[in-house]
Amino acid sequence: MDRNNTQDREWGTRRDFIKTTGAITAGLALGGHTMARAAAETLAVNGGPKAVTAPHTDGTTWPRYGKEEEEAVLKMLHAPNYDPLRELEDDWKAYLGVPYAMAHCNGTSALASMFCALNLPPGSEILVPSYTFFATIMPMRFFGLVPVFVDINPRTLNFDLEDAKKRLTPNTKAVLPVHWIGLPADMDAICEWAQEKGLIVLEDAAHAHGAKLKDRYMGTWGRMSIFSYQMSKPLPMIEGGMGVYQSKEDYERATALGNYDLPGVDPDGPYWKYKGSGLGLKFRMHPFSAALGRCQLKGLEERNDAGAKQVRRLNDALTQLPGLYEQTSGRKDMRRLYYAWNMLSVDEKEAGASRAALVKALAAEGVNASAHYYTLQHELAVYREPEWWHHLPVIPELPGSTAANSTGIALPYFTREMPELVDQYITAFEKVWAHRKELTA
Ligand SMILES: Cc1ncc(COP(=O)(O)O)c(C=O)c1O
Repeated sequence: MDRNNTQDREWGTRRDFIKTTGAITAGLALGGHTMARAAAETLAVNGGPKAVTAPHTDGTTWPRYGKEEEEAVLKMLHAPNYDPLRELEDDWKAYLGVPYAMAHCNGTSALASMFCALNLPPGSEILVPSYTFFATIMPMRFFGLVPVFVDINPRTLNFDLEDAKKRLTPNTKAVLPVHWIGLPADMDAICEWAQEKGLIVLEDAAHAHGAKLKDRYMGTWGRMSIFSYQMSKPLPMIEGGMGVYQSKEDYERATALGNYDLPGVDPDGPYWKYKGSGLGLKFRMHPFSAALGRCQLKGLEERNDAGAKQVRRLNDALTQLPGLYEQTSGRKDMRRLYYAWNMLSVDEKEAGASRAALVKALAAEGVNASAHYYTLQHELAVYREPEWWHHLPVIPELPGSTAANSTGIALPYFTREMPELVDQYITAFEKVWAHRKELTA
C-alpha cells in the first residue's frame, strides 16, 4: 500500500480508531450492522445459518441487451451491409474526442494493428505488465518487438512505474500500460517519464470504456490505444475491438494490416498502393457487433456510474474491516468503472487469518467469493522458446504480480441493482471478520 496516498491514509486512520478504541467489539455500526451482533452468530462454515439468503439470480447477467439491440441486429440480418462499422467509428471518435479510429474484429486484432503501426525496428522493447491478457503482449512477436515484463502494484493491479524505470535500456521504445478492470493507470506520471526518456506511450484500454483521469478519457493519453468490445467488457458487442489513433500515419498503417480495402485511407497517401492486398490480414469487425455497439454506447456512462455506485456501497463498508482492501489507486482525480469482478485483497497478517480460510468461510455464508489468480504471461512457455521470437524476452521476478495472486479475492460485479444482496454481503463479511481469529484454512 502506498502510505502517501490520501485514501490509504484515511483508511489507516479509521482502522486505527477501530483498533485502538475497541469500537468493533463495542458494536460500532459498520454498514448498518454491528460487529458485536456478528460475533454472537455462528459461522455457516461451523453449522450456523447463512448470512446470504437473497438469490443471485440475474445479478451478474451480462451483456444486457434489449429491444433496441434486437431490432438493430434484425435490421442487419434482413439487409446486410458494412455501414455500421463507419458509424460506430464516428460515434467512438465523437465520444472520446479523437481524430482517428478503426473498428476491428476484436481487441487482439486492434493490438496487432497497433504494433504494426509502430513501425519499429526488430529488437525494439516495449514495457508492458505481465499481469494482463495474452493479447496485450503476444502480437508483438509478429513485428520483432520484445515485451519487457513490468511488475504491477498488487493494490492497484496496474503498471508499476517505479519498476518500469529499472527496466529501461537503450532499446526501450514504448510503454504499454493497461487500465485493469477500469481503474486508470497513472498516465500523467507515465507520460511525463516517457516524454523525458523519448518513449512512445500506448494504452491497452480494453477494460476502460469511459474511465477518466484528470477529466481525460483513458485511451486518449497515448499515441495509440485499443479497446475490446468482447461480451464481458463494459461496452459489449459479443466480439469486437477498436483502435484509436492520434495521427493519420498510424491510422493508415494500422488499417492497412487488416483491411485490404483500406477504408478511410487517403488515395494520395503512402498506403493507398496497398489497396487490394492490404498487408496480409483481415481484421474487419462483424456488422452485427457494430450495430449492437451503437445501441449500447448510448447507455454506457449511466451503466458505468450505476455500477460504480453499487460497488462503493459495498466496498465502503468492507474496507473498514482490518486487513481488507479494494483495488484502487486512491486518486480523487479519476473516474473509474468496473466490470466482471469487484477485486479485493487481503493482508493476511493484518487480518489475522489466511485468504484461504476467509474465502472458505465467506463462501459458506453464501458469498460468491473466490481466491483470485490471474495467469501471469511471463510464466508461460511461449516466452521461453527462441523459435517464436526475433529477440527472446527476459523472464524477470515480479513480486507485485505474485503478491496480487496470493492476496486477491474476487467478488462478483453486480450488473443491476442488488441492494438486499449487497447488504447481506456486508453482513457476511462482518460475521466472518468477527470470527476470523478462530478460522482454520
Ligand atoms: C487487457 C486486455 N487486453 C486486450 C484484450 C483483447 O481483447 P479481445 O478479447 O477483444 O481480443 C483483452 C480481452 O479480454 C484484455 O483483457
